[in-house]
Amino acid sequence: MPVRKRFYVTTPIYYVNDVPHIGHAYTTLACDVLARFKRLDGYDVKFLTGTDEHGQKVEKSARQSGMEPGAFTDRMSQNFRDLSGSMQFTNDDFVRTTEERHIRACQALWTRLKERDQIYLGTYAGWYAVRDEAFYAESELTDAPGGKGEGTGKIAPTGAEVEWVEEPSYFFRLSAWQEPLLRFYEDNPGFILPRTRRNEVIAFVKGGLRDLSVSRTSFTWGVPVPGDADHIMYVWLDALTNYITAVGYPQTEGGEYAAYWPADLHMVGKDIVRFHAVFWPAFLMAADLEPPKRVFAHGWWTNEGQKISKSLGNIIDPVALVERYGLDPVRYFLLREVPFGSDGDFSHRAMVGRLNGDLANDLGNLAQRVLSMVNRNCGGAVPAPGALAGEDEALLAAAHGLLAGMRASVDQQAFHEALETMWTVVRAANGYIDRQAPWTLRKNEPERMNTVLYVLTEAIRHLAVLGQPFMPGSCGRMLDQLAVPEDARTFACLGPGHALKPGTALPKPEGIFPRYAGADAEAAS
Ligand code: MSP
Repeated sequence: MPVRKRFYVTTPIYYVNDVPHIGHAYTTLACDVLARFKRLDGYDVKFLTGTDEHGQKVEKSARQSGMEPGAFTDRMSQNFRDLSGSMQFTNDDFVRTTEERHIRACQALWTRLKERDQIYLGTYAGWYAVRDEAFYAESELTDAPGGKGEGTGKIAPTGAEVEWVEEPSYFFRLSAWQEPLLRFYEDNPGFILPRTRRNEVIAFVKGGLRDLSVSRTSFTWGVPVPGDADHIMYVWLDALTNYITAVGYPQTEGGEYAAYWPADLHMVGKDIVRFHAVFWPAFLMAADLEPPKRVFAHGWWTNEGQKISKSLGNIIDPVALVERYGLDPVRYFLLREVPFGSDGDFSHRAMVGRLNGDLANDLGNLAQRVLSMVNRNCGGAVPAPGALAGEDEALLAAAHGLLAGMRASVDQQAFHEALETMWTVVRAANGYIDRQAPWTLRKNEPERMNTVLYVLTEAIRHLAVLGQPFMPGSCGRMLDQLAVPEDARTFACLGPGHALKPGTALPKPEGIFPRYAGADAEAAS
């Protein structure tokens, strides 16, 4: 049997100092859609997510809640696993950096870097931001508004407070990787997307790279450095390694590593591109391992125009959103409202607009009108078409062409564009139904009515099959209503070869996308 095409996609692993919010749900959702799309398109997919449990930030949060870090991370990590259930994420694995397999992978990578003379012992004296778990140069800092206060009075470009750190540290020879990295970006133009992020990264690397401090001695919540009990590994070296832990590193011969590495895509937010597109490929190249194929950086969400932050108290809880609007509308909204890669604003008004407009009016009504007409006028079975007219052929051709168009967009992580493409057929089908007016054909031209309704059911079948990665529950129900068997819902079943069979009995149709009718719906429309 030929080996199936493989696809390995990862989310960042989430810090467990916080409960999951919309930002986390967004990153994992994008990966989930991609993973589902690829599976339906015939790929053998590995989809990884997990939690980042070491480092000063997590240790501090544990202390603040009066818990041991181990017990704290067990509890907080569970929240992220629960999110997969609420959002119907289909990750195949969930990695925790406190797991034995991960500690083994980190220590093996460290040893390999050390053996290759990529790591040396020195002393770090400089600025560190615990919130970002990142080192900063003096030249990057600005004075904090409001003067010194309790801290050093200096802040990083991200707004995080910095502290002065002076301690023995191992360093990674990052400076030696400047040229190889620039060559790698040049040779792999699709490595960092979108293009603006790629330009930023290239400018940063061209600006010069200094060796990177990769161990700490002033606290203990981390992976011990092999052979030096005073040091723990820098949390980002530890965290990035998760991507190879999950494919069985240090075993590289055979097994999952051989099957899935290099990863096809690391999905990240724009704030952590540098770690993924500079440090990570440098660590890997230095260890003579292959870098991933792509890092895609998506934008950030604001809430009704405001930056989302704990201190502003405006964090959006994804589970609360789902309870209010339904899961599939939320999944649809997050990927449709904003060009993927750009920043976006969440507002109740925009959410209800999409739900009541795109979903209830456009797609929901289309399915409901067609299926209830079939139910009432065709004996509750798929009608038999007669000869096809030009307009029938045109709608079918548009439906058949959807896969190629959506696939091209999804392969560039342009999820909004894939949905726009899908909606061209939703709109074309609505235009067709209005022009053909099958309800007027019933009496005098029943055969023509059957043809029109048949063409529409086929168009809906295509929309439902291709919509599954985005809105799995609703599209699944649409396919149930078309009596499409479970094993005929993959992309291989698109096109005329697997067309609905006339005479197939259909269940009684039910609405798929109810309008949002909360008391506050009016204000939103
Ligand atoms: N632990 C690191 C990642 C290590 S990966 C080897 C981390 N964790 S995080 O929990 O702080 O952030 C995880 C992701 O959530 C990031 O990709 C970040 O961009 C994303 N988001 C956090 N807030 C966000 C928004 N308001 N909007 C969109 N995404 C945001 O960084």
